[in-house]
Amino acid sequence: MSYTRRDAIRTLGIAAGASAFHIPDLAKLLGELPNPLHKTLDRPITAITLGAGARGNVYGNYAISNPDQIDIVGVAEPIPLRNERYSKKHNIAAENRFITWEHVFLKPKFADAIIITTPDHLHYGPCMKALAMGYDVLLEKPMAQTEKECRDILALTKKTGAIVGLCHVLRYAPYFIKLKELIHNGSIGDLISIQHFEPIQHIHMAHSFVRGNWHNSKASTPIILAKSCHDLDIMRWLVGKPSVRVAAFGNLKWFNKQNAPAGSTARCHDGCAIESNCPYSAVKIYLRERTYTYVFDLPEQKELVPDAIMNYLKTTNYGRCVYRMDNDQCDHYVMSLLFEGGITASFNMEAFTGYHGRRTRVMGSMGDLTGDMDQFTHTDFRTGKTTNWDSKSLDEGIYKNHGHGGGDYRLMQDWVQAVAQKDSSLLTSTIDASIESHLMGFAAEKSRKNKKIIDVKL
Ligand SMILES: NC(=O)c1ccc[n+]([C@@H]2O[C@H](COP(=O)([O-])OP(=O)(O)OC[C@H]3O[C@@H](n4cnc5c(N)ncnc54)[C@H](O)[C@@H]3O)[C@@H](O)[C@H]2O)c1
Repeated sequence: MSYTRRDAIRTLGIAAGASAFHIPDLAKLLGELPNPLHKTLDRPITAITLGAGARGNVYGNYAISNPDQIDIVGVAEPIPLRNERYSKKHNIAAENRFITWEHVFLKPKFADAIIITTPDHLHYGPCMKALAMGYDVLLEKPMAQTEKECRDILALTKKTGAIVGLCHVLRYAPYFIKLKELIHNGSIGDLISIQHFEPIQHIHMAHSFVRGNWHNSKASTPIILAKSCHDLDIMRWLVGKPSVRVAAFGNLKWFNKQNAPAGSTARCHDGCAIESNCPYSAVKIYLRERTYTYVFDLPEQKELVPDAIMNYLKTTNYGRCVYRMDNDQCDHYVMSLLFEGGITASFNMEAFTGYHGRRTRVMGSMGDLTGDMDQFTHTDFRTGKTTNWDSKSLDEGIYKNHGHGGGDYRLMQDWVQAVAQKDSSLLTSTIDASIESHLMGFAAEKSRKNKKIIDVKL
């Protein structure tokens, strides 16, 4: 049985008297139904984007699709082509275009909010400055590089009363919203434990965490935060109670010099003897198969694209051998978690899979849930009945097919409303709620490195 819009409307009706949590979430889930807490805005909120890369463009594109909600009026971006393209797309005045984030704050406040989509090591500085100047903020995950910095951001957010949304977009994906609803509406009895698996997929791992922006944990953040703060956050959110203790293991087992095959070279195109047979060949991934090329600023003329890609492979880390990089991120990671009330969870992050898509099993006293982000099954032990839910039919609304299971745009919708109404209760992923997953991640790293079980202190 699949879950249709009609079922959702019916559930919305049933849930209306049940719990305050269900009503806005289901309305958002449907997309087409107005969230009763959302208002028609007198004017779009205004925002300045710091970092016009992949994420800056996701949120920027929301503004293009919803000009009545948000207007991007400034940008800071050091790569000239990106700065140019973004400014043109959003019609940004010359005096509001900047090379680096610091320049934005030399000018008196000129928008409602700042969107921080710079690399991980450039989250703390701009966020603290934006808060000090009275801006509201949309902050990409991870919040910051250290526990102290995360706590500083939380403290300044509270002091200023600013609206700060953290981009834990999975909280806004209908699939996870529905899982949470079933966990908390009695469908599985008492929640006992969770198994959550994040299969990164081997090429994605090589692209982002061996060659890419997150290959060095000190220059960015450890992979348990850079990649998995989403998962720690979603487990915490599903459980609905704080985590109290964690233990973690993990290491970099495969992508290192000891495993470099005989005949391999520093760059894949440099006459590597095994290039044609290597799953991680940069020539195969970027040039022959044209995957993950979104990180390159490619020319619009198609005939110039192959040379442009080859130039990137010759001059950037994206052309380097995965066994000869200066990477240090774990390529497999396991974690055990204890939550308040004796609820336990186990988490696996794994590079070596042929597939993406988080897998989650939720075990309760009266039923269980098993899902893979495409669909999930609920088994009720009391009746023996199994019910299948399909993510596609859950995601029928206006944000269908958008990134992160529809989460990217739903997050933006709520954040815009929270800023416009000056009401952080309209946000699911506030800084208050989101800091916990970061503290869990920092505790995991302490556990992994010091071989100890670590208490999570909020
Ligand atoms: N929420 C999610 O699901 C999600 C997904 C991917 C990435 N992220 C996070 O979003 C952030 C951005 O990731 P991305 O994939 O868009 O990276 P990106 O490299 O595509 O974009 C970052 C941009 O910031 C620019 N930049 C660098 N220094 C700058 C400076 N001093 N001032 C202004 N801009 C500067 C870069 O030139 C680049 O264009 C990262 O922290 C990443 O971890 C979140």
